This record gives sequence, structure tokens and C-alpha cells, in this order.
Amino acid sequence: MKGYSDVLIGLQYGDEGKGRVIDNIAEEYDITARFGGGPNAGHTLELSDRKIILHGIPSGIHHPNMQLYVGSGCVVNTEKLIKEKQEIENNGINLNGRLQISDQTTVILPHHILLDTFIGKEIGTTNNGIGPAYADRALRSDGKRLKNLRLGDLIDDPECAKKTILNNYYNTIAFYNMKAPDYILGEKKSIKQKAEEIVELAQSLKKYICRNPLWLEELVSDGKKVLFEGAQATMLDVAKGTVPYVTSSHTIAGNAYVGGDLPPKYHRKTIGVAKAIMSRVGNGPFVSEFGGKLSEYYCAQGKGKKHNEKYENKKYDIEKLLKSDNLLDIGIALRILGQEYGATTKRPRRIGMLDLVMLAHNCKVNGVDELYLNKVDKLVDFSKTKLKGIPVVREYEIDGIKINHIPGTTKMNREAKPVIEYLPFIKQDLSSVKKYEDLCPEAKEFITIVEILSGCKIKGIGVGAKREEFIKVE
Ligand code: IMP
Repeated sequence: MKGYSDVLIGLQYGDEGKGRVIDNIAEEYDITARFGGGPNAGHTLELSDRKIILHGIPSGIHHPNMQLYVGSGCVVNTEKLIKEKQEIENNGINLNGRLQISDQTTVILPHHILLDTFIGKEIGTTNNGIGPAYADRALRSDGKRLKNLRLGDLIDDPECAKKTILNNYYNTIAFYNMKAPDYILGEKKSIKQKAEEIVELAQSLKKYICRNPLWLEELVSDGKKVLFEGAQATMLDVAKGTVPYVTSSHTIAGNAYVGGDLPPKYHRKTIGVAKAIMSRVGNGPFVSEFGGKLSEYYCAQGKGKKHNEKYENKKYDIEKLLKSDNLLDIGIALRILGQEYGATTKRPRRIGMLDLVMLAHNCKVNGVDELYLNKVDKLVDFSKTKLKGIPVVREYEIDGIKINHIPGTTKMNREAKPVIEYLPFIKQDLSSVKKYEDLCPEAKEFITIVEILSGCKIKGIGVGAKREEFIKVE
């Protein structure tokens, strides 16, 4: 019997709750696999007694028989990966014999992170060196020296790896005329010490390295079922997203069959994940944002201690903000109530209403077969505002012309105005609802409208962050 693969991806700007959906449906699969991105991702798993945020390791960790695969399309920060592995194991979860990392993944090196902090500000990157690492992967070599150091190379040839780390570091500093920083990746060490350390530490990953590029193919052809776990989201795709305010990998479903090391002949279905109240971290267009440009600016100031969860919680009266006539205030209140702060960077996430133009568009881009909608419980907060109902975007308007797709360029995306429709308020506390039948009529109406406009059946509804706060729809 042949196995198959399903692909799960985010349909908005990331942070849609992909990790929790995977955790809920993982029992149907034997393997969860990442196919792109790296430690920029923050997939949160919340059980009743613990919360784990995963950055590089696939989200199937809580299912003891599940294999976890990191495909060649990913970029890895070996130090962060080791820490993450340690944290998972400290929670009593065994990864031995389960975690397999392709030896063809690209290693994120100190100069990538340095460069990201230097040139990534305008985009608002996560400063993890993702863009520079993918750029070096595409460059391959600078004519003389290796640029794409892969995990297998790092482990097999430590001397070459050290040279690669140092050469690239010195060249970057010289090329950009930078002052050599005192701190290398947050530590007061010389780059030579850091290179030694990276090479030495990487040896501890030896037993997790997958040396067979056909590993996944062999398992699936033998009957195993794999769930590909997308990272970031469709709007952050390096080519299809809001360029340049995107990540540097392909995040859409098709890339699972490049970065995930499996041929597309095993594809069964595509699963999309979206949030009922949207968010975005970093800069770039966001048509349905509460407070528009002002919110983008406000959140961009929110690095470090400013505008973080603690700061906003202390500073604002939520009830008052909700009653405000200013949409920026409503956005701030919804962020506090929805705890929308970056899982990786702790930055405040920009908040917006559900954009049904985007949802329908991205369901088509990815060929979504079924949909999961998270944070539906948070829609209740709209009933405490002076708005006419739950706002959703039905169309975009550019220069007086209405359109039903996402414009291809960032300029047009910035110019697009949301055409808003109001759906009836939901007043029921949804967090304790376990069955679809028990949802109030307004919540059911909301779900039905999303299904009709996206053209996809909703198979699951998130009504809280915890594992059990999830309604499966048959
Ligand atoms: P990078 O991937 O760190 O280069 O960041 C590029 C853009 O993608 C920035 O706007 C980030 O905030 C955003 N981004 C990257 N990873 C994620 C994610 O996992 N969730 C949400 N946004 C992300």
C-alpha cells in the first residue's frame, strides 16, 4: 500500500495557529515534516500544564510514535536547534530515533545574522539571518569560497566549515564597511572562538542527521503518511507575498514537494489555516489593519520593552479602548485580549479584521481543500465596541474600481481600500463549546459565510489556545 502526504500552510501573514492545528490532527499521520524557513517560525503548542514554542522542530512532538523530519528546504541555526531540542527533552519528550534533519539543510552562520540586523530593519525581519542564509544558498560560492555551508558539510569537514564561517564573516564586514561588533551573537567572544564553538557543538547533532535524501520517499512509498508543516504564510512567500516585506523562502503548498524531499505524486490534500482576527508582524501592506499606517508605525516602535505585552497591559484600559471611535485603539485592545505578541521576537503584532478577499485568493493560490479557522472565540470582543457588527473585508477598492483578488504589487496593495461588511455580533462565550452543534446561530452564520466565500469546507475551529479548546467539524 502506498502512503500519502498532506500539506498544511498559513493563509495570511503567519501566526495563524498552524502548530496547534497540527497537534490536533497529528494522530492521523506517521511523520510531520518541515519544508522551509528556520528559526524565524514560532509554532506554539499549549497543553493544560505546559506551553512549548517550536522554531525549527516539527510540531508533532507530543505524539510519541511520530517521526519528525526537517527537509532540505529549511535553514538551521545549530545552536538554537540544540537549545530547542534540550527544552523539548526537559519536558519529558524523547526525540531520539524520531528527529531526522536533512544533511542538505543550509546552516545559518554569524555573518547571516550580522547582515540581517544591518539590512533587515526596513522589512522588519526577525533578525535570525534567514534572508542572508537563503541568499548564500542561491549564490553557492563567491568564486573562491563556499557560501552555502550545509549541515552535512559542517559535520563532515570541520576545518572547511571553520574557514567558511571566518571568510564569510570577514568579507561581510569589509564589503559593508562595518565596524566589527564586540558581541558575536550576543556573546563577548571573538569570531574565531565562535567558529570553533559552532563546529564543535554541531557534532552533537550527528545522530539526528538524515544521510539519505530518499528517506521520506522510502517511508511514504512503504505506506507511511506525512503531514508537511508550512512555516510563515502565503502572504510572506518570497515571490507571491508582499515583496519586499516577506521572508526569503517559498511558503506556499507547492514548495513542500521541493523543500520537503518528496515527489508530488504522493500529494493527497492541502489544508489551510487562518485566523478570524488577523495579525501581521513586521512592516508591509495590510489592507484590513485597524488603524492602517498609524498602527504599522506604532507596532514598528514596539521592539524591546516598548509596546510589548507587559507595557500595553499596564498602560491601557481595555474596555475604554474598545469603545473608542479610533480603529487604532480597537486594534490595541484586540491585541491585548488576543495576546498577539510575536512568539519569536515578542513584538506587538499588527491587528486587522478578517480579509475574505485574501482568504479566497490564497485558498486558490495553494489549492486548499479544507480549512481550519482559529481565534473564533475572540470575535466576541467586537460586541463590546461601537461598531455595527463583526467587520470583514469583502472587496478591495483601488481608484474607485472594486476588485476581488490581491493586487500583485506592493504599491497597489498599499493603495487598496477595504470594502467592509458587518456580520452579526457573537455574544456567546465560545471557549467552552466542544461541538459545532452547540455554537450560537451567529457563530454558525459566520462560519458558513467564510466557507461560501473561501470555497472551502471548515474542518476545525479554534476557540482558545489550549489543545482541548478546539472544535472538530465532521
Ligand atoms: P524573516 O523571515 O526573519 O526574514 O522576516 C521577514 C518578514 O517575515 C518579517 O516581516 C517577519 O516579521 C515575518 N515573519 C517571518 N517569520 C514569521 C513567522 O513565523 N510568523 C509571522 N511573521 C513572520
